[in-house]
Formats: sequence, C-alpha cells, structure tokens
Amino acid sequence: MADRLGDMRRTHSCGELGAAEVGREVVLMGWVLRRRDHGGVIFVDLRDREGITQVVFNPEMAPEVHAKAHVIRSEFVLGVRGRVRLRPEGMVNPNLATGAIEVLVFELKVLNSAQNPPFLVEDNVEVSEATRLKHRHVDLRRPRLQRNLMLRHQAAASVRATLNGLGFLDLETPFLTRSTPEGARDYLVPSRVNPGMFYALPQSPQLFKQLFMISGFDRYYQIVRCFRDEDLRADRQPEFTQIDIEMSFVGEEDVMGVAERLMIALFKHVLDLDLATPFPRLSYDEAMGRYGLDKPDTRFGLELTDVSDIVAGSGFKVFAEAVAKGGIVKALNAKGCSNLSRKEIDDLTAFVAVYRAKGMAWIKVREDGWQSPIAKFFTDAEKHSLAERIDMQPGDVVFFVADQAAVANDSLGQLRNHLGQKLGLIDAKRFNFLWVTRFPMFEYDEAEKRYQALHHPFTAPLEEDYEKLETAPLAVKSRAYDLVLNGFEVGGGSIRIHQRELQERIFKTLGMHPEGYAEKFGFLLSALDSGAPPHGGIAFGLDRLVMLLCGESSIRDVIAFPKTQKAACLLTSAPSIPDQAQLDELFIRISQTAKP
Ligand code: AMO
Ligand code: AMP
Repeated sequence: MADRLGDMRRTHSCGELGAAEVGREVVLMGWVLRRRDHGGVIFVDLRDREGITQVVFNPEMAPEVHAKAHVIRSEFVLGVRGRVRLRPEGMVNPNLATGAIEVLVFELKVLNSAQNPPFLVEDNVEVSEATRLKHRHVDLRRPRLQRNLMLRHQAAASVRATLNGLGFLDLETPFLTRSTPEGARDYLVPSRVNPGMFYALPQSPQLFKQLFMISGFDRYYQIVRCFRDEDLRADRQPEFTQIDIEMSFVGEEDVMGVAERLMIALFKHVLDLDLATPFPRLSYDEAMGRYGLDKPDTRFGLELTDVSDIVAGSGFKVFAEAVAKGGIVKALNAKGCSNLSRKEIDDLTAFVAVYRAKGMAWIKVREDGWQSPIAKFFTDAEKHSLAERIDMQPGDVVFFVADQAAVANDSLGQLRNHLGQKLGLIDAKRFNFLWVTRFPMFEYDEAEKRYQALHHPFTAPLEEDYEKLETAPLAVKSRAYDLVLNGFEVGGGSIRIHQRELQERIFKTLGMHPEGYAEKFGFLLSALDSGAPPHGGIAFGLDRLVMLLCGESSIRDVIAFPKTQKAACLLTSAPSIPDQAQLDELFIRISQTAKP
C-alpha cells in the first residue's frame, strides 16, 4: 500500500538544486524516471516538471530506507527527505542542470506505485504516435512536451499582457451558435429542446466580434477555441485556438501595427529575440508570381519565373498549348543542381504530380550547352531569352510546369519548399515574417459553379474595385491581409464591411438570394443598419505560432490532447456511439455507422 503524504511538503522542485544548497535538508516529490543499483547503493532519477534530480539510497547510512527503496519502479511517485551533497569526482553530469549534486535520502514515502509505462518517459524514444496519443497522460510527462506546454502558457500570458496594456477587452462569445462560415464544414450539435434543430460550433467568433464593435466595445480580444470539420494535416486540427482581435475606427495599418507589437512582445518574452519591424510586405499577386504560394517561406531564394510570353509561340506543343488555353508556363531554377539523377528528377516529377501537375519538363545547363528532352523545340532566340530571364548558368537545372496558373503556381511553389528542405537552404534559426496583402476578394468554385469568398464574406473590397463587384468579381481585390511566418499562415484578417448595402452586394455576388441571406445573416444586416462603426481585425493561430516558437513540425506536439488525422481522440476514444436513450431524446436515428 502507498504511503500517506501526511505533513511532508516539498521544499524544492527537482530542477533547482545546485552547489549552493549543499548541506541543506530538502524534501523533493516527483516521478521515478529510472532506478539503478550500483554495488548496493540505489540511485533514482526523480523527475517533476522543472527537471530531474538524482537521489541516493545508501545501505550503510540509512539501512531501513534503503531496504524500502527496493520496491521502487519507473513512474512510481515518491516523496523523499534528504541532504544535498556534491556528487563524487567523476560522477558529475554536465548535461543535467542539477548534475553537480545528489540528495542522500533518509526518509522515503512511496506515494503511489505505477504500472510499467508503455514507453520510457524520455525524449528521443522510438514510439509510434498512436501509442503516444493513447497514453497521452504519460506522453505529456516527457520533457519536450512539458516544455512545449509551458511555453504555450508563456505565449498566451504574453499575448494577454500586451493586449490588456493596449486597452483591449477580453470578452467571451458563444460556442452554441449559428454557422460562422470560414470555408470549412461545421460541427453540429443537436438541440434536445428544439427537436430536429442544431447549433453549429463556431469556425471563428467572426460575427460576434463584429457585433462587439457595433455595440461600442471598441477593442476586443479573446484566446478562443474554434471548430472546423476539414481535412486534417500537420498544421490543422478540428479544434484549434485563435488569438482573436477586433478594433473600431481603424484601417489596415492600425491592425497590422497592433499585430506587429504583439509579435515583438511575444518573441521577446518567450525566446528573448528582437524582431525587426515593420515586417516586409508582398501583394498576393507578387507572392504568387515569385513563390507560387500565398504563404511563401522567404528564408531562401529559388524564386519562380513566368516564361509564358517566351514559349507561347515555340515548337514545344505542351507549352504553346497551355498558354493558348489561358494557362501559364512557370520555371524554377534549382541553382547548382544539374547533377540530379534521372531517378531524382522522376521523384520530383512524382512530387509535383501530387499537386496536379500533369508533367514537369527540365533543362540541365552544362558548360557545353543544354541537356534536355525539350531543348530541341526551341529556336536560338527563344533559348537566349529563357537563359536570360531564368538566369541559367552552367550547373543549374531548371524545372517547368505548363498548366492553368493555379496548378503551375501551386505545384512549383510546393516543389520550391521541398527543394529548400532537401538542399539544406533553410536556416532553421531564422524567423521570417511577411505580410501578404491585396488578396482577391473571390475565387471561382468549379465544382459548385459559383464564386466563393477567399477570406470570408464580411471582408471589405478595395473601394476602387466596388464597380467591378457585379461585372468582374475575379478582378476585385480585398482589404484582407495574412501574416506568414516561415511558410506558415499564422494569422489572417481584414477591414470589414460596415455598410448593409455593400454587404448585400457581396452576398449577391456569392450567388445568395435575398431570402437566403436574410435567413442566415439577417441579424448581421440589421446590426449593420443600427450604427456600425468602421472596423477591422485579425486572428492568429496560437497553435501554429507556438509550434514555430517550439521548433516543432506538428501542432499536435503543442496541443495537450490533440486528435488524429481521422479527428479521433485515442485517449478517450472519442467520437463514440451514443446511448440509444440519448439519441431517442434528440429524435435522432442513425442510418450508418463508421467501421471501427
Ligand atoms: P482564418 O480562417 O484565416 O481567419 O483563421 C485565422 C488563423 O487560424 C489558424 N487556423 C488553424 N489552425 C489550426 N488548425 C486549423 N484547422 C486552423 N484553421 C485556421 C491559422 C489562420 O491564419 N475570422 C477570421 C479572422 C479575421 O478575419 O479576423 C479567421 O478565422 O493560423
Ligand atoms: P510528352 O510530350 O508528354 O512526352 O512530354 C515531353 C516532356 O514534357 C516530358 O519531359 C514531360 O514531363 C513534360 N511535360 C508534359 N506535360 C507537361 C506540363 N504540363 N508542364 C511541363 N512539362 C510537361
């Protein structure tokens, strides 16, 4: 049976004892990382969130305590009283903050025993993510995850301190609400007292924060959970946390200024790093042109070049036809990589195929000329223009994708990131922030045969583009801005529409009928009619920011209890099939059940 805690209380954490405490009597509590027996002496590494301390059970100095220590196993919970002493010469561990000392124990309380853990509670152990997530309470004991979650706390605390200091009010918004569209599917919650009716969990607090501005609260923030039923990836979870901000009587510069102050304070507080501001800016068009993506990683070069005009009239049909059909031909010069093998080029071609590129042509530049399956199709003048435009030098290999702009840009933009990694061009210590501005207001959804808002339908168009709303929607630019960090979209926002008439025009462009938008967004329209100030805001993905601050490559490593690719929680086995009685109460009948 486990010992009682009684009146034993900690005097120190397991991470703070050093030479200064030698000779002191101390009490430590924590978990057993491992037990080692050396010639009768038992050594235990005792761990808590602050660190690890070696505690020693000596048969000669404390025989009874030593005898009791034999039961100790990994992950047992102990309380120990003992005296701090310097480790003997040669036993000092320079890799451990407490490595100069150990605690010679003269009182032991085994506060709890533990089953053999599913994996050793240490970083760098080989264990599958599924096992880690199933035993997340054990996984979370590992130093890396402890550090990540503590850093997450610091990040949130810094954000609150900065925003409180700037006069923002931390106000809450409902979770049981109507759909707040941000381009994903909603999670629905049935209402028992309104049979057949459902709430939607918010994809963001977008409409509520606008209502706060209309109600006169002026400056709002919230660190808030958002819910989106979308395809999951390393940087996407079905529930995630936003730092959500809205401000009244502002334009783009004001919101971006607050965002930059927030980031400066955050990086200073958490990493003691001084960020240079203002952050660089690119228009959406420029970002797509030079990097193929609207969230470029600017830590390395390998920029893309449009060569459509040069090859439009060429003898290479693939290129000429792509341009004739309204597409583009884009090139990526992998500088100094002409020694890539055929196999490697085939692998890169397979890589871009994932992003829908139908093929990828290439030219290797040798001292004595071009080596390429397509070189023969070009005239000397075309070759000369290509070489000049793409800055082709001996040793380079140039990749081309000819397709609709969306495909050519996306596939080469992704290839650029891939090559940046593969060629070791990325300095992992750098933090490159970038604002991307002047997004298109709409994109055309081929499947649904209608326009969609690129940001969300409450974003204001550029004033000079109002007249194109009905005639040329794809040419309309918006007052939206994204904050990009090292190739990740860490934030996005916009100046909002604050006039009812303009909001209705946008709904109409999106193919909604007045009855439709009155039903869905009538409350917003009447709020806009009640005296809405000009306003705008932004939301940051806290998980993504913390992931980058921690140097992690998945947000699952900075979320305490994340979900899998299939949106499941392996620890609690959610989602699950509810009791029949619960379903009956909700008037819900299940027509199909997922296979386990
Ligand atoms: P947006 O949809 O761009 O804007 O979201 C803001 C930021 O939230 C993060 N994010 C996510 N993080 C993890 N998992 C997800 N599934 C996920 N989806 C988004 C991203 C993103 O930049 N209401 C607007 C903001 C505004 O206009 O003020 C909004 O939600 O880092
Ligand atoms: P093909 O004529 O289809 O054999 O293609 C000749 C070369 O052009 C091959 O190297 C293909 O990989 C490449 N290619 C095919 N389609 C495209 C495309 N859409 N963009 C760029 N290159 C392509």
